[in-house]
Amino acid sequence: MKILVTGGAGFIGSAVVRHIIRDTQDAVINLDKLTYAGNLESLADVAASDRYAFEQVDICNRAELDRVFAAHQPDAVMHLAAESHVDRSITGPADFIETNIVGTYTLLEAARAYWSELDETRKQAFRFHHISTDEVYGDLPHPDEVSTGEALPLFTETTPYAPSSPYSASKASSDHLVRAWRRTYGLPTIVTNCSNNYGPYHFPEKLIPLVILNALDGKALPIYGKGDQIRDWLYVEDHARALYTVVTTGVIGETYNIGGHNEKQNLDVVHTICDLLDEIVPKEGSYRDQITYVTDRPGHDRRYAIDASKMSHELNWQPQETFESGIRKTVQWYLDNQQWVNNVKSGSYQDWIAQNYQGRK
Ligand SMILES: NC(=O)c1ccc[n+]([C@@H]2O[C@H](COP(=O)([O-])OP(=O)(O)OC[C@H]3O[C@@H](n4cnc5c(N)ncnc54)[C@H](O)[C@@H]3O)[C@@H](O)[C@H]2O)c1
Repeated sequence: MKILVTGGAGFIGSAVVRHIIRDTQDAVINLDKLTYAGNLESLADVAASDRYAFEQVDICNRAELDRVFAAHQPDAVMHLAAESHVDRSITGPADFIETNIVGTYTLLEAARAYWSELDETRKQAFRFHHISTDEVYGDLPHPDEVSTGEALPLFTETTPYAPSSPYSASKASSDHLVRAWRRTYGLPTIVTNCSNNYGPYHFPEKLIPLVILNALDGKALPIYGKGDQIRDWLYVEDHARALYTVVTTGVIGETYNIGGHNEKQNLDVVHTICDLLDEIVPKEGSYRDQITYVTDRPGHDRRYAIDASKMSHELNWQPQETFESGIRKTVQWYLDNQQWVNNVKSGSYQDWIAQNYQGRK
């Protein structure tokens, strides 16, 4: 199979590309605009493969998309390209509307034009897999909002959409477009909605890599509000396997929720990272001493948690990492990959952090 992966230079996209090249016989066309979040260095281990090709293209550019479809003749699309950082969507929503909504629309139209011209066998086999987030569902009751002993609800595939941030609203819009292109035009689409990912090659504006690197640099570890927000953490390589399972064996028109069964409060995540660093690279005092509390993000969702039983029952996928095993691997990866870290830090990441994270330093 030839798979067109959009956003393949990003955090999750690069894990998908590495998984396909290393663990399958399939070929990948990585289509990525290379925004501040796109980093080809994350693909250094697989870029030499003759089953890998790269196209620097914006998903909003229809002519370029048509050229790529015609040149590479993919059998499937895995659509991950997006603006993905909630804080950035609050300070500058325009890029989120452009890439996540207009870009997904443009890609759907290019895919539809290409798919409609395929011969019947290839047309039947074609898949458009849209990768989305659990944030489209809004937030769930927090344990401190329910009576003791009361079961806490989880997001299922039928939970109504109620996005809170410009990021999640733009992703929700793109999910609706994909659903409509299935119903109206018959495009063979599948949607997945996943919980928070963590792991190697994560751009250090997101909580886990930010905390690891700030801790090692002796900087403050910023915690939003009380740090009691709950996320369901999934190791990125487990997500990459799940996505490949869905694009190869998922049922057209279905949605699959993907999660790690790892509900953790943000503060507990930061404590775990500090304790691991205390063990692996001890210093005088504890890394926990660097924790500082900053004003909460506006509209901050309090709890996300995924019911991933459909993935397990119907597609036989389960995460392989527990949070404890995955976070240890992640901390060790950042310690072992200083060159990647230094290159990211010397790029636009630093400028943006300087402008936007003044309160957090
Ligand atoms: N990170 C998470 O925890 C998480 C969880 C669930 C779902 N998702 C979804 O998974 C996908 C990937 O997330 P990520 O964390 O890897 O994101 P990321 O920000 O690390 O990577 C996004 C990639 O998309 C590329 N890109 C951005 N705009 C583009 C455009 N207009 N045209 C072409 N390429 C463009 C960037 O260059 C980058 O390589 C996103 O759709 C996101 O909504 C992320």
